[in-house]
Amino acid sequence: MDNDAERVEALRNGKAPFYEPYLQELLEANNGGGKLVFTTELADAVKHAEVIFLCVGTPPLPDGEADLSTVERVSRQIATLSDGYTLVVEKSTVPVLTGTRIHATMQTYSRGRDGVEFEVASNPEFLSEGTAVQDYLFPDRIVIGVESKRAESLLREVYAPIVEQSFTWRPKPTVNRPPPRPMLMTNRSTAEIIKHASNSFLATKISYINMVARLCDEVGADVAQVAEGMGLDRRIGPHFLNSGIGFGGFCFPKDLQAFVAMAERSRCDFGLLKKVEAVNQQCVAEFITKVKKELWVLKGKRIGVWGLAFKANTDDMRFSPAAAVVEGLLEEGAEIRAYDPCAMDEARKELPQIEYADSAETAAADCDALVILTEWPEFRKVDLMSLREKMLRPLILDGRNLLDPKALRDLGFEYVSIGRP
Ligand code: UDX
Repeated sequence: MDNDAERVEALRNGKAPFYEPYLQELLEANNGGGKLVFTTELADAVKHAEVIFLCVGTPPLPDGEADLSTVERVSRQIATLSDGYTLVVEKSTVPVLTGTRIHATMQTYSRGRDGVEFEVASNPEFLSEGTAVQDYLFPDRIVIGVESKRAESLLREVYAPIVEQSFTWRPKPTVNRPPPRPMLMTNRSTAEIIKHASNSFLATKISYINMVARLCDEVGADVAQVAEGMGLDRRIGPHFLNSGIGFGGFCFPKDLQAFVAMAERSRCDFGLLKKVEAVNQQCVAEFITKVKKELWVLKGKRIGVWGLAFKANTDDMRFSPAAAVVEGLLEEGAEIRAYDPCAMDEARKELPQIEYADSAETAAADCDALVILTEWPEFRKVDLMSLREKMLRPLILDGRNLLDPKALRDLGFEYVSIGRP
């Protein structure tokens, strides 16, 4: 159920509402035949369901706390519409103790009607954009926070096809991820914290390596090798140690703020995470400084941009560090021509003042510099020899450490990246 009628109509017609690899195929495989039904009527959904997943938005408020007004409103509505047992499952990322609030709200608004019974479980979602379908079908773990055996057994039943890997539709080419898919059963507050603590920890890893990259820049060390050397330690692991222009998207920045705000309300000053956020914000400014160092004056300079999405394999522009860099360059008077394989329709809404190119090559043509802002793998395949000829000055500033410094210099480029000599 969604109250956006246009979106529901598109889904009924088998059209995924945003770009996400495999989502369209998954929708086509399950649409029709009554297995997957879309509605704008909450009453229909509530009447149909024993288990209801709440997946509504929890955007940030100006003070960093999560805006839970939609969660509250929907909980109230479900309470008034339900006439039997309903297990409401928090899928939206919410601060700890939201489950308790939802439960109390439902009790209040169901007004003790006969036969009406509610439970609330927490089932945080760990999927990443760009690999959402694979992450969902082949998860590292499934976390379930419940307060009763009944809720536990219902959710075990819901997730059995994934735990047992017995579902029929599979992404092609087949994704091989190792079994098993452990289910972690906890109480509700613990599950709520696992979500925020995981995202904040990953964000910490990124800010950590970005700070190490800054040091590498100063002393002529190579952050990619530092990350490799660190990542070989199994206790650290190789993932989320790619330095660049910082993390963005609709999860890390807002979840980090919400976690800090929620900790503060519980009298825990999470200064560590405030620093993680501050380091992240500096990444964009540091990168713009690098561009200025190379180009001196930006006013009137033509800069080609590769990548606008907040990361590769998505068209999502929300809290994109790439957009923040573009805005910074525009403020300095640069002229921008950008290309992104997927996010240009979204980008036009946010950045209507820049020029858009129909290919990576065209974006860089006649430019004083090319900046790489999203780690799209296809940028690695561009013919660099011919690119060099097309550029006014063969200068590349790579904000994602996507290309190989030596190869670039051998081809006659001036090449600047993050924390690599
Ligand atoms: C994140 C979490 O990974 C996921 O578990 C959670 O459910 C939702 O939030 P997502 O926002 O899709 O997923 O993106 P993610 O792949 O985590 O990347 C977030 C940002 O960090 C991106 O801007 C990305 O470019 C950046 N990043 C990631 C780095 O700068 N370096 C890295 O090493 C990894």
